[in-house]
Amino acid sequence: MISQRAVDLKPSLTLEISARAKALQKEGRNICSLSAGEPDFATPEFIVEATVKALKDGLTRYGPAAGDPELREAIANKLSSWNKVPTSPDQVLVTNGGKQAIYNLFQVILNPGDEVIIPVPYWLSYPEIVRLAGAKPIFISSSPDDGFKLNLEKLEDNIRDQTKLLILNSPSNPTGRIISRVEMEAIAEILRRHPQILLMTDEIYEFIIAEGEEHISFAAIAPDLIDRIFIVNGFAKAWAMTGFRLGYLTGNLKVLKASIALQSQSTSNVCSFAQRGALAALNGPKECIYIMSKTYSVRRKLLTEGLTKINGITLVEPKGAFYAFPQLPEGSPDSMTFCKMALEEVGLALIPGEAFGEDRCVRASCAVSTETITDGLSRLSNIMSRYNIN
Ligand SMILES: Cc1ncc(COP(=O)(O)O)c(C=O)c1O
Repeated sequence: MISQRAVDLKPSLTLEISARAKALQKEGRNICSLSAGEPDFATPEFIVEATVKALKDGLTRYGPAAGDPELREAIANKLSSWNKVPTSPDQVLVTNGGKQAIYNLFQVILNPGDEVIIPVPYWLSYPEIVRLAGAKPIFISSSPDDGFKLNLEKLEDNIRDQTKLLILNSPSNPTGRIISRVEMEAIAEILRRHPQILLMTDEIYEFIIAEGEEHISFAAIAPDLIDRIFIVNGFAKAWAMTGFRLGYLTGNLKVLKASIALQSQSTSNVCSFAQRGALAALNGPKECIYIMSKTYSVRRKLLTEGLTKINGITLVEPKGAFYAFPQLPEGSPDSMTFCKMALEEVGLALIPGEAFGEDRCVRASCAVSTETITDGLSRLSNIMSRYNIN
């Protein structure tokens, strides 16, 4: 009954851990979770109010498939002025989260047999969405010893005639790494040497960065490549709006038109009144973003310092997003076994690195209170000394 592509689809590895964590909690166990993948803040009040008002004003009908024209314009303005990527409103598609932006893009640019280069560690949905489009993910490994830096030689060695797309995610989920301007310039040189390759930059964590760090949109430093670069972004992380399901895709007009056609035949438009919340977010005061980002920075520092103090852990200091991706010591079990052990033995929920293509690591989140981070660190230290793996 099931199609081959559905059979091939891997269910999210993280679900197993979170389902078990919930079951243990139900049994009355005290569970400390550092597994969060979403902000723990409430959506800012002015965004909620604008959404409720839209609902009360009767914005409860179908809308244009590409998105509310005012929102498309606001997104284009944001990209042009903030990200320094000149964008017109007709190059913007409003999607059901950043995830649908990625799905739509891959469906309209990838053919069976195409290859997509994905640097490891990666956000876990990329390979699956590539496979759903019939294409093949090609993984480029990196190492914590290199700070998870993309190895440019390996990148170029993996480019073949079939290579259609490169994915970059900065700040990164799961490592919190930010790609520097110098690195971007070097990658741009490679792209210039291989004109058949398109680039998708996933910038969903752009506002969640440590003090002194800078988020750069790749398209801004390589304007000559702008026609080959697609930006994916959304409102979930910066404005704590995960449940609104609001994201966007921008880039080459022809591809955008095809993505709009695809959306019109699949999900139609994004929830009409939720789009008003996104419009309020873009047009409203920005303090909320900076306050949340500063809070993550305090927590990121606490998590980073705590992890570095645990014997045997190797950590590449995260500079953005709300995760740390520590490497377990030599001789540790695989990441799934380790996470199951941590959950059963000390009630600590972490995400196994296997989900992100790096089985030597685990992902810990700082989208939780400082008390939870401190508690989680002491449980982690406990499990490691209990099994003598430090
Ligand atoms: C790197 C990255 N990209 C895209 C997304 C998708 O975000 P959403 O679909 O919630 O907008 C996420 C969500 O966790 C993410 O971590």
